[in-house]
Amino acid sequence: MTETSMTYIQFLLDERRREDSDRDLLTLLHSVATACKAVSNSLKNGALADVLGSLETENIQGETQKKLDVIANDIFLRRCEFSGVLAAMVSEEMDEIYDIPSQFPKGRYVLLFDPLDGSSNIDINVSVGSIFSVLRLPGIPDEITYETVLRPGVEQVAAGYALYGPSTMLVLSTGNGVHGFTLDGSIGEFRLTHRNIVMPENAAEFAINASRANWWEPPVQKYVADCVAGEHGPRGRYFNMRWIASMVAEVHRILLRGGVFLYPIDEENCASGGKLRLLYEANPMAFLVEQAGGAGSTGRARILEVAPVSPHQRVPVILGSTNEVDLIDRLHVEYDLKTVGIIA
Ligand code: AHG
Ligand code: MN
Ligand code: MN
Repeated sequence: MTETSMTYIQFLLDERRREDSDRDLLTLLHSVATACKAVSNSLKNGALADVLGSLETENIQGETQKKLDVIANDIFLRRCEFSGVLAAMVSEEMDEIYDIPSQFPKGRYVLLFDPLDGSSNIDINVSVGSIFSVLRLPGIPDEITYETVLRPGVEQVAAGYALYGPSTMLVLSTGNGVHGFTLDGSIGEFRLTHRNIVMPENAAEFAINASRANWWEPPVQKYVADCVAGEHGPRGRYFNMRWIASMVAEVHRILLRGGVFLYPIDEENCASGGKLRLLYEANPMAFLVEQAGGAGSTGRARILEVAPVSPHQRVPVILGSTNEVDLIDRLHVEYDLKTVGIIA
């Protein structure tokens, strides 16, 4: 069998044999992939299927829900509650923790997900994605509380995303590197196309919503200004800029060709702690980026070590090639030391 012909499930079985990993995790990752295929299918017919546009409802974050946010959320719930290996689920689109209905067996895994990321792009037919994070509890809990699901990202046992772009891809890590699969429509299966993705250490591209520049903190303003200054500036070289407004597409790009993605805390979003959500956006993406040899920081801490205090908590996000993330961290340290008067 050539490597490109290996299906996702064959890959998981092979990984399980070599790593002696848990069969329940394989079951869950298979269910998640099935959900992603179903979401991909719902997206495919777009306006023809009357799935575009907004609903009149808002989610817990006060964002207007798109029809497809709700459709994708239902798909994840229905496909994954059935797996028999979950204790609970947490979704961007649900205010509270989702308990597994009593007709299904329960297990010791928790699935945290953003069913549709970048949904502002839906109506203009630009790439969107789904993001997921998996926690393993010590045992099957008698009851689910906030403490059950509020675990730091370092405890994730798997994370991944599906990218619904020109092709549908699933990118996964179970802690043994990052692997990418492409949906083969002819057999309805994901097939391994990108084994062991390693991102370049250096970057020549950055991604940030520059319309927020006036609200940024000085370290972010300096980082971007220095990149924009190009070969005559302090960086001495030229940088390119990209912004898709779809974190999955953005992270996919930096995983494959390096770069840095920032959604920092700023004057406008600081009361909420940032824009992106820790449990089902920042943590899984930081896990993937670290597994690919990059780094994930809030500017002041490693994302994966942030202790969550609420399910929909937001956090500043800086993901990318290690040298760029280290530089941005250093700019934050210098700024903070100046602010408290320790350095001039
Ligand atoms: P979601 O669609 O799940 O709410 O997430 C959208 C996020 C993320 O995908 C993207 O990076 C960012 O919001 C875009 O923010 P702007 O609207 O500021 O560009
Ligand atoms: Mn999102
Ligand atoms: Mn979303």
